[in-house]
Amino acid sequence: MIKSPAFLLLAAVLALSALPISAQQPAPSAPAPVAAAEAPATAAPAKPDAAAGGAKFAAVCVACHGEGGNSGTPANPKLAQQHPDYIVKQLQEFKAGKRQSPIMQGFAAQLTDQDMKNIAAYVGTQKAKPGFAKDKELVLLGEKIFRGGIQGRDVPACAGCHGPSGAGIPAQYPRLSGQHADYAASQLVAFRDGTRKNSPQMSQIAAKLNDREIRAVADYVAGLR
Ligand code: HEC
Ligand code: HEC
Repeated sequence: MIKSPAFLLLAAVLALSALPISAQQPAPSAPAPVAAAEAPATAAPAKPDAAAGGAKFAAVCVACHGEGGNSGTPANPKLAQQHPDYIVKQLQEFKAGKRQSPIMQGFAAQLTDQDMKNIAAYVGTQKAKPGFAKDKELVLLGEKIFRGGIQGRDVPACAGCHGPSGAGIPAQYPRLSGQHADYAASQLVAFRDGTRKNSPQMSQIAAKLNDREIRAVADYVAGLR
């Protein structure tokens, strides 16, 4: 064992510099979020009121989206545990006609910005009930696309944005895990056909998927947890 003063000094410097670095480094979580959007501190809007949101939800939305946003109807999306920013974006875009739905545009039109934030805060804190994949034949194809995309056809891995378990990334990418396969597939078709045009990113991706691939990946997503 060398114990020269120079060695001790070097060891001390190394120990000192190693400590804060390892303490600073967050556990590597895949995928790395692209600079999480900072909430601008300019205007001071009222804080979301989840209790008020819950009351509004129970009065109007529960009929289709289910208790706590756990819809039991395959055509009606589950909203439980969805990221609030994503919910608010969708409601604003329904209201503005940027996302079209004969059903939702009417309901969203009756909501103020504050209602939207309140409801989003409420559903965001509800626990999503797990779903399951149904099609054993297709689910492997779905898993392949979700995790690795489609080589040679420029389809990126869904997991790259929506996360390996479909949990999404708050403020950027919606949660998909446990979503009804019918609903997820209908949205992929709508992105592909241009009926849903509120996300150029998703339109580009869906444009490259055929019906079978859409069914497969939607089924896989339904079983993610
Ligand atoms: C009559 C049934 C019905 C009612 C009531 C209803 N919704 Fe919906 N909602 C739907 C359907 C169907 C869709 C899917 C629309 C589409 O295909 O794009 C949807 C979509 C949504 C979405 C988009 C979800 C996503 O994952 O992109 C949000 C958010 C939403 N609804 C919130 C609400 C809120 C808040 C209320 C109450 C104010 C409400 N809904 C009332 C049927 C309903
Ligand atoms: C580059 C990032 C990115 C990739 C890769 C990606 N998505 Fe998305 N996806 C998004 C964004 C952003 C949205 C939200 C769009 C919006 O704001 O309306 C979205 C929305 C969706 C929705 C609608 C969710 C809802 O509740 O209505 C589905 C379904 C979906 N993506 C499936 C997929 C599938 C399947 C793949 C892989 C084939 C995939 N995505 C790959 C970014 C991505």
